Amino acid sequence: MKNIFFILCLTMVSLCSALAQEFKPGEVWKDTEGNIINVHGGGILYHDGTYYWYGTSMHFNSKASPLKGVGVYTSKDLYEWENKGIALSVYPEGSGHKIEDGCLIERPKVIYNEVTKKFVMWFHLELKGKGYAAAEYGVAVSDSPVGPFKFLHAGRSCSGIKPMNMSVDDVEELSSKQNIKRRDPEWRSVVDKGLYTVRDLGKGQMVRDMTIFVDKDKKAYHIFASEENQTLHIVELSDDYCNYTGRYVRILPGKGNEAPTIFRHKGKYWLITSGCTGWAPNAARMAVADDIWGPWTELENPCIGEKANKTFNSQGTFILPVHGKKNVWIFMADRWNPNNLGDSRHIWLPISFDENGVPELKWYDSWKY
Ligand code: DGJ
Repeated sequence: MKNIFFILCLTMVSLCSALAQEFKPGEVWKDTEGNIINVHGGGILYHDGTYYWYGTSMHFNSKASPLKGVGVYTSKDLYEWENKGIALSVYPEGSGHKIEDGCLIERPKVIYNEVTKKFVMWFHLELKGKGYAAAEYGVAVSDSPVGPFKFLHAGRSCSGIKPMNMSVDDVEELSSKQNIKRRDPEWRSVVDKGLYTVRDLGKGQMVRDMTIFVDKDKKAYHIFASEENQTLHIVELSDDYCNYTGRYVRILPGKGNEAPTIFRHKGKYWLITSGCTGWAPNAARMAVADDIWGPWTELENPCIGEKANKTFNSQGTFILPVHGKKNVWIFMADRWNPNNLGDSRHIWLPISFDENGVPELKWYDSWKY
């Protein structure tokens, strides 16, 4: 009798843990201690058999997005996550530091540099008390994937350098058009051409929603919304991943893309982004290129089915290749809750491909890779 009871208990336990081994997009995701997983707008690094999930650690019951810093969780299988605390901490209020408490740190991404053996974090930084006006990048490094990360520098990108896909003639022409206002009929065409790029040549280009992509040849790129969120920029990083090389392009000019996510499949680069509607969801967009520098071709929204026009009520943040699985990618997104950002939900969905090899996203209440 005792034996039967024991076997029954064992079966129940393994059944429960088997059930836990699946993603349930939109439900409350808890860590191994039973607390809500509080990393948002983040990304995942796979390193030496462990996944490291980084994201902004946000406050609960808050309308704004204050934070303690960048949080990190670890997992062996992507289903069970252990809280490893704050990988990059903000500096105390009043310190005057660029990442002083009260600043905004959004969409952090961490990559590993095989030569320097350092973990490098890039993030979108907004300075304390300045709303979203500063539009800067920030960089921090660590010897360990769980931190503590040390702040290196922050600022605008590529000051004094024009994009590779803008001519000297364009710069000259747009310099003479800086007084064109939004209400003027010419505004749209000059913005598409790079009105704001030229405006910001001196102080550097704006950096907002962002991701980092490491290509097969280990070159890394910072991809972000720039030019008042009108145009995406792709900037090459230095060999140590801690700086810009100054080589960059403007892509999808004037299309108003945010939340860039990217992956490479069968020699093509696929970009999945969102439109600009604050914390509210909108329809995802997609673009493809044979070369990271472009040209990029716009495609349809990859989402299919109910709520496809709102990206299933979410906004992308990262595309994760599952280690050891061929052609398995997870589209990671946030279902923002602007009144309680810490309780924004995680929406992870598998990327599938149609008969022409074009990525698709479909909703699943639960799924496994
Ligand atoms: C949309 C962005 O994608 C988010 O990261 C955040 O910056 C919100 N806007 C703020 O409104």
